[in-house]
Amino acid sequence: MSPFHIIRTLPEDATDAALRADVRRGLTATPKWLPPKWFYDAHGSELFERITELPEYYPTRAEREILADRAAEIAAVTGARTLVELGSGSSEKTRYLLDALTDLDTYVPVDVSESALTQAGQALIAERPALTVHALIADFTARLTLPDTPGPRLVAFLGGTIGNLLPAERAAFLASVRALLAPGDSLLLGTDLVKDERVLVAAYDDAAGVTAAFDKNVLAVVNRELGADFDEDAFDHVALWDARNEWIEMRLRSRTAQTVKVPALDLAVDFAAGEELRTEVSAKFRQEGVRAELAAAGLETTDWWTDRAGRFALSASTAR
Ligand code: SAH
Ligand code: AVI
Repeated sequence: MSPFHIIRTLPEDATDAALRADVRRGLTATPKWLPPKWFYDAHGSELFERITELPEYYPTRAEREILADRAAEIAAVTGARTLVELGSGSSEKTRYLLDALTDLDTYVPVDVSESALTQAGQALIAERPALTVHALIADFTARLTLPDTPGPRLVAFLGGTIGNLLPAERAAFLASVRALLAPGDSLLLGTDLVKDERVLVAAYDDAAGVTAAFDKNVLAVVNRELGADFDEDAFDHVALWDARNEWIEMRLRSRTAQTVKVPALDLAVDFAAGEELRTEVSAKFRQEGVRAELAAAGLETTDWWTDRAGRFALSASTAR
């Protein structure tokens, strides 16, 4: 077995069909919406990495602080020989776990972004020739089949990406993760925490406009893949705090009344002036809510760690 292999679990035409279905459903809905997984082509993945370095975007730094402080404890608690990481992106923070897990045999990064997986995997095997990296191009909301690797397994879902799922999607997702866990396996979950609205909104509407470019990148993806004629300059990036749902919502607001054509779907989409297209929710959590959602999926929280400022949490859980 070579130390790095990358496996596409979904054929490319399935990805294409999923994009078509999502775009048709989302752009013909009221209000209009698109799922956030389509942000992450190669350019979107690069823009996300730039977001993680912005002064306003605290989650990456907060989670890195927890991992730097607690990786040894996480390693002791889980004793993992296989680390599966969902939505692994650049795998940058993962290095704290890879360093601490002394019995680790295989790392399984799972992501929809082939470019992110390839770059991260190649860098990792150059740094750690003894590690087997078995990368999966897959949608973590679909049923995952994991490679047959040594246990115990630690399934990590970092970054607060669980907050990009809607509540019903989160429940289904956590149930599917629970189904992956054998006795002795664990889930390590990163959740961003509820905090001052100004801090939250600034994190999703930075002064340099990188998040706005990331938000508009979904339009570029639909243009390229489906021949649409979205004009990025005809939309404004909007980030707002929904206090009832306790989530940040990113939207694209049409500057004028306009019609966008999507030839691959034989669709013409009318936007009124000021009409908004929801592109992402990013839910923020409280400890009791995370424990309850995990419990509802048959998972028991065994550990809860936060950064020193209490902005972000990592929790460990096991199957009940
Ligand atoms: N875990 C990293 C990256 C977070 S960005 C961190 O903490 O910094 C979110 C990542 O999840 C991106 O790499 C994106 O491509 C991936 N992603 C988003 N939706 C996905 C889905 N449905 N299935 C698989 N990967 C997904
Ligand atoms: C990947 N995910 C956790 C990010 C978030 O904070 O919700 C995506 C993002 N959207 C805008 N900025 C970052």
